[in-house]
Amino acid sequence: MPVRTVSFTAMSEGTKEDYAILAKTEEEFTRTHADRVLAAVQALEHSLAGYQVSRLEHCLQSASRAHRDGRDEEYVVAALVHDIGDELAPVLTRRDDRGRDAPVSR
Ligand SMILES: [Fe+2]
Repeated sequence: MPVRTVSFTAMSEGTKEDYAILAKTEEEFTRTHADRVLAAVQALEHSLAGYQVSRLEHCLQSASRAHRDGRDEEYVVAALVHDIGDELAPVLTRRDDRGRDAPVSR
């Protein structure tokens, strides 16, 4: 079934029917959220090279260690996914004393 599209370009102009469309598509999208998170974790296998373990292995180690340390489920999941964002922002910066962006070592 084709995805229906809202009629507005500004949220303030949305109708009840528009928001019903969005609620339905959001519900469907949310249903597959776990699959997308796991796919993002799995993609870490082929991420930044040069380390002795892949980012996937590093994240699995982090989650395993958190689990063995008796951390709660939320903490373990956070440990598992903590490097997903590195795929989009591989270099961290901070402002130095002169207001310039400087790389942050990890
Ligand atoms: Fe990490």
